[in-house]
Amino acid sequence: MNLSEYLDCPNEDYLTYKEVSEVLGISTATVRNWVKLGHIQPAAIQQNNRFLRSHIEEIRNKITNGSLTKLNQRANKSNSISKIIPTEYADNPKVCEAISTITDLFKRYNLNRDTVLLVTALNLLRQVDLIREIQYLSFNDINFTNEIVKSEIETWLDNIKDRELPHYYNEVFDISIPLNCDFLGLLHQSLLYEGERAKTGTYYTPKHIVDEVVTQNIKSSDLVLDPCCGTGQFLLLASEKINNPSNLWGFDIDENAVRLAKINLLLKFPQHKFNPNIYHKNTLSDDGKDIPQFDLVMTNPPWGSHFSKDEELLLKKKYPNVKSNEAFAYFLEAGIGYLKEGGILSFILPESILNTKIHKDIREKILKQTTIKRIKHLKRPFDDVFTNAIQLDLVNKSADENSFIAEKDDSLFHPKQTRLVSNQDFIFDVFTNARDYELLNKVFSVKYNTLKNNAIWALGVVTGDNKKHLQENNGVKA
Ligand SMILES: C[S@@+](CC[C@H](N)C(=O)[O-])C[C@H]1O[C@@H](n2cnc3c(N)ncnc32)[C@H](O)[C@@H]1O
Repeated sequence: MNLSEYLDCPNEDYLTYKEVSEVLGISTATVRNWVKLGHIQPAAIQQNNRFLRSHIEEIRNKITNGSLTKLNQRANKSNSISKIIPTEYADNPKVCEAISTITDLFKRYNLNRDTVLLVTALNLLRQVDLIREIQYLSFNDINFTNEIVKSEIETWLDNIKDRELPHYYNEVFDISIPLNCDFLGLLHQSLLYEGERAKTGTYYTPKHIVDEVVTQNIKSSDLVLDPCCGTGQFLLLASEKINNPSNLWGFDIDENAVRLAKINLLLKFPQHKFNPNIYHKNTLSDDGKDIPQFDLVMTNPPWGSHFSKDEELLLKKKYPNVKSNEAFAYFLEAGIGYLKEGGILSFILPESILNTKIHKDIREKILKQTTIKRIKHLKRPFDDVFTNAIQLDLVNKSADENSFIAEKDDSLFHPKQTRLVSNQDFIFDVFTNARDYELLNKVFSVKYNTLKNNAIWALGVVTGDNKKHLQENNGVKA
């Protein structure tokens, strides 16, 4: 590529070191090493800290389909598609079988991810007669039976570069796929590389957990929101109980996920003429204009903070109470703000929200503005994420003297919210029974000393060569 071609390229065609590490699922140190070894090349002499996206995507595809075996070992950890089919998300073996068939075709023929998703969506739409039966799939020849589906697919097609479909896409179009589940969501996640999943926190929720959240909290007339709906799995399960599909609302920052969530709802209600209330937006920076208040706000928000400096500044301004800069805390604030008086919020969150000091601010907000309905310990529900989780259900009304339910393993506890308010850091020590709590209070009621300010703590260092680095004489030569 010469310089003039290079200057004509829009910025998004280039990737930074960090972005390359995310796309390839390796550390930035490994990216630097691969550059040194000549496995990947920076884009141009003028800007050798950038890489052409197409070059990196080509490398990624070669690693994935096994044609670049020398780089497989490093990248495989996260990039092997067969490894990242999130099976905990599906409970039907036919679903996993169909996903494996499609991901195998994807790898074998080096298919385009967006086109595979679109062809799969058409496969499903054909099953419920939202498009008419055709023998050979051609994007120029789709016969729609529903105007909303037509406009949705046509907008999607505008983003697909290649309208001519090689014959192997017909294999995807003809696979037998079970209806009545978020198949598109599972495929979307299976085709997302781990680095990208981690960046947006795209770890969708296992079905049995979503089932419980929905059945415990929903009423058939509810107006329901998932503020980061992904491909709409909470909304799909809610749709089993809700008669009017227009009562189901969802937002997400991932445009592909939003498309799939819309298709999912259209597939679920093939007889209804409705435009799904699913919107592509950044929920945290949205001004909330034209958004109603909801009876039920439920989701599994992203955990962790992957914000740019600009986003961070904006969020700090919009949510001054949240000091942790943690995505789920911002989503909790936003979620509570979307509730009607008496409305219910049900979120899947990391266990750390209950007791780490950094989340004192959001615990205080919960205690002062809402009534806790239930806290359930979920152990470690996500295969790839090494964190315990909880389900937190709140009601948007001020707290009373009543106790709520806390559930861990097979034990039930009945703590009172007033007890949590009286504790210094608003720690939610909810999995303690009344007798243990009384005992602890008794222990702390006698005079005691702690190690705080009374001990010096040191953290060990692994030197890799103790003989050289550890000395007995404080380093002072005799
Ligand atoms: C853990 S996934 C959960 C998806 C879905 N609620 C579920 O549980 O199946 C988190 C979702 O949050 C979305 N997300 C991340 N940041 C967002 C933002 N600022 N606004 C809207 N959605 C966001 C991601 O794209 C992803 O779909």
